[in-house]
Amino acid sequence: MKIIRAKDYKDMSRKAANIISAQVIMKPNAVLGLATGSSPVGTYAQLIDWYNKGDIDFSEVTTINLDEYRGLPREHDQSYWYFMHKNFFDSVNVQPDRIHVPNGSNPDAAEACREYDAIIQRAGGIDLQLLGIGHDGHIGFNEPGAAFELGTHCVDLTKETIEANKRFFNNDESLVPRQAYTMGIKTIMQARKVLMVASGADKAEIIKKAFFGPVTPEVPASILQMHPDFVLVGDQAALSLV
Ligand code: F6R
Repeated sequence: MKIIRAKDYKDMSRKAANIISAQVIMKPNAVLGLATGSSPVGTYAQLIDWYNKGDIDFSEVTTINLDEYRGLPREHDQSYWYFMHKNFFDSVNVQPDRIHVPNGSNPDAAEACREYDAIIQRAGGIDLQLLGIGHDGHIGFNEPGAAFELGTHCVDLTKETIEANKRFFNNDESLVPRQAYTMGIKTIMQARKVLMVASGADKAEIIKKAFFGPVTPEVPASILQMHPDFVLVGDQAALSLV
C-alpha cells in the first residue's frame, strides 16, 4: 500500500490523473476500471484537459465502470452511464464500443452480472481500477458485510443510500432505484493496480479505519491493504488522521 499526500482536491486530482496518464502512455490499450461520485470528477477534468492539449490519447483504451442502478435506462440523468458521459466520455476519444457500464436496463440480474463478468474477462482483466470510498468503507456498491469473493452481483441499496439519493429524484423516495449492479470485491482485487482518491475531512475517519485497522468485510475497503499494488491519493483533510 502506498499513500500519496496531496495538498487539496485539485492537487489530488492532478496526481491521480498523472498515474492514470502514465498507465495509458505505458499501455495505450489499457483497460481502465472507472468510478462515479464526486471524488474522481476532478481527475476526469484533468485528463480531459491533457487530452485537449494532445498529451494523452484514449483511442485504444477500454473502460469498465464499477456499478450502475438496476432499472434506470442509460438516458436517465441519474444513471452512471449518463454521469460518465457527461463528466468524461463525451469530452475524450474513448471509442463508444469500448465503453462498458453494467446494463441497468436488463431486469434479469443474473444475466446482466454474468455478461459483465464475461466482458471483464474478454478484456483481459483490469489494468488500473480507480475507486472512491464511501463513509462506511464501501467500494463500488459493496456495502459493509459484503463478501470478499464475489464477482459482479446485484445488491439492495441500504435505507441510508436511498434516503441520501432521493434529492436527485425530485425528493420522491419511490423514484429512487432499490437495487444496483456492482463489480464485486473479488474483481476489484484482481485489478493489476488499484488507485483510490479520497478528499475532505469527512473521509478522514474511514480512511484511518480502512487502512490502519483490521481487514474485515465490515469495512469493505480494508481488503485493499492486501492488494499488491494499491495506491491511495488523498488530500490533507482526508489523510489528517493517518
Ligand atoms: C462510484 C461508487 C461509490 C463511490 C463512493 C464515494 O461508482 O461506486 O463507491 O466511489 O460512494 O463517493 P464520493 O466520491 O461521491 O464520495
